[in-house]
Amino acid sequence: MKKILVTGGNGQLGNCFLKLSGDYKDRYQFTFTDSATLDITDPDQISDFFTELKPDFCINASAYTAVDLAETEKEKAFAVNAAGVAHLAEACRDNNCTLIHISTDYVFDGDTNISYTEDNFTNPQGVYGASKREGEELALAINPKTIVIRTSWLYSEFNKNFVKTMLNLFTIKDELGIVADQFGQPTNANDLADAVMTIIEKEPKTYGIFHFSNQPETNWFDFASKIAELSGSDIKLNAITTEQFPTPAKRPKRSTMALDKIEEKYGIQPKHWENSLEECIIILQKDQQ
Ligand SMILES: NC(=O)c1ccc[n+]([C@@H]2O[C@H](COP(=O)([O-])OP(=O)(O)OC[C@H]3O[C@@H](n4cnc5c(N)ncnc54)[C@H](OP(=O)(O)O)[C@@H]3O)[C@@H](O)[C@H]2O)c1
Repeated sequence: MKKILVTGGNGQLGNCFLKLSGDYKDRYQFTFTDSATLDITDPDQISDFFTELKPDFCINASAYTAVDLAETEKEKAFAVNAAGVAHLAEACRDNNCTLIHISTDYVFDGDTNISYTEDNFTNPQGVYGASKREGEELALAINPKTIVIRTSWLYSEFNKNFVKTMLNLFTIKDELGIVADQFGQPTNANDLADAVMTIIEKEPKTYGIFHFSNQPETNWFDFASKIAELSGSDIKLNAITTEQFPTPAKRPKRSTMALDKIEEKYGIQPKHWENSLEECIIILQKDQQ
């Protein structure tokens, strides 16, 4: 039976893997770690862990994800998102393990009207994006069996995310201003976890960078409006500009990613974001009952 190690098991994406792992228990043995059981900034701990477990696949769902805080915690962000990823890649290389590393659309500057392909020039606008880009480069350089999957606007029924924040705000506010001039593709983290499993099931031979998100593109205002509609909220939403909602870290204006490569190489067809959002809202509403 093949062994899959999932780091960041407590995180949003980690929880999605935990949820689906039962469906694969006849074929894969999953091990989930968190920062207490496997700190990816500790190379000795990683090396010992890999020698003991000998995983066939390592899915790195761990990351420093505090985009705004990263502007003042640069060292911490790079320690996890760059050096930590390098330690994982070294352990993977030394144990003939495929590394599936999750990255972000924030590696792009967003100043374009085209959909970014995997080969397009990166130009992160903040510390988080820069640390994630360095992590991509290190992982690919260190372990030849590395797949980097860039995703965007991740949400799910787990942990903190935009969908859950909106649903909460809809219950306590009468009116909200939502940024309408930033474009991208929301992604249900459960769909991302499914896509990773599809790749693993196909016994990957094609490595490198892939993009995965739901599609097509939208903006935060339209995304929030659909969350309101699907959840039956009558909140009044007002479209605002990025200038009206300043944040410490600059976000890409339009980080829409082309999704053809993952379909071509692995037959993965990303779902429409509205359908995936509806699935998430149904789960969240059931949880409330
Ligand atoms: N959220 C988004 O909108 C978004 C968008 C694009 C890409 N991504 C990428 O998608 C991936 C998954 O994101 P997510 O939303 O699931 O993030 P998340 O909920 O913040 O989970 C990240 C996990 O990483 C763990 N972690 C942090 N430092 C660690 C360390 N030193 N050692 C081991 N584990 C550590 C944390 O574990 P503990 O709880 O144990 O501390 C946390 O549970 C990340 O690579 C992220 O960059 C996210």
